[in-house]
Amino acid sequence: MRIIQISDTHLSPGKPHFADNWAPLARWIVEQQPDLVIHTGDVTVDGADVEEDFRYSAELMRGLGVRFCAVPGNHDVGDAGHNHQPVSDERLQRWRTYFGPDRWVEDTEDWLLIGLNALMIGSGELEEEVQTDWLDRVMNNAGTRHVAWFLHRPLFLDSPSEGDTGYWSIKPRPRAQLFKLIKRHSVALVASGHLHKAHDFRHDGTRYIWAPSTAFLVGPTMKAPPMPGENRLGAVVYNIDSEMIEAEIIAVPGLTPHWIDDVAEEVYPRAPNK
Ligand SMILES: [Fe+2]
Ligand SMILES: [Fe+2]
Repeated sequence: MRIIQISDTHLSPGKPHFADNWAPLARWIVEQQPDLVIHTGDVTVDGADVEEDFRYSAELMRGLGVRFCAVPGNHDVGDAGHNHQPVSDERLQRWRTYFGPDRWVEDTEDWLLIGLNALMIGSGELEEEVQTDWLDRVMNNAGTRHVAWFLHRPLFLDSPSEGDTGYWSIKPRPRAQLFKLIKRHSVALVASGHLHKAHDFRHDGTRYIWAPSTAFLVGPTMKAPPMPGENRLGAVVYNIDSEMIEAEIIAVPGLTPHWIDDVAEEVYPRAPNK
């Protein structure tokens, strides 16, 4: 099974700052003939507030003619505790209308591919509890199958024992809970987006892939904390057989490396570091 992970496309008809990267990306995806495309969020520039961004992005994704699953990013559904864009039922509903469930499981014969809504994790919302129970159930039914998780926000930047990195990774308390599951079920892969960086590493038997964005790079004026990973655009190709998952971060031909720093005031005026 061949899977392509794309992330952080940040698409919008009203703010077409990164739109020129869609055509080369779409062309490359079709050439790759994947069985499945997984989008790990920030599909839109501002779907959390602008429905048109969803309509436009969903049309582009469907236009690929390839089956896809997607998990939401903070720019799609808002973020827990955010001043301007808290994640809400209305925002989640809008996601589901255009992209389907915000958490899902793809059950192949030998693998369980699990999509998680990272914006619920640590939110304290009722939906968080629902997702936690659901994930427990799905994991308990995994049997002998290998497990891979896909979510927008990475579990950690440097180490699972690090403190709160704020905007950039999952909060320490829910992270600790997720690590219990990772250990208990020997999760093989945790794939994320959000950081707009490319990174491929192992920790304690689990492989972690940070999928780069296809839209823009994040430069020094955005005040991200120090973190590993490479500042480049691209996508991830996975080849899965009964035992193995091969993963490679690919530089998709024809992508223009935009920098959010140059256009942050126009694209995200209320939240320049987001
Ligand atoms: Fe993003
Ligand atoms: Fe994000």
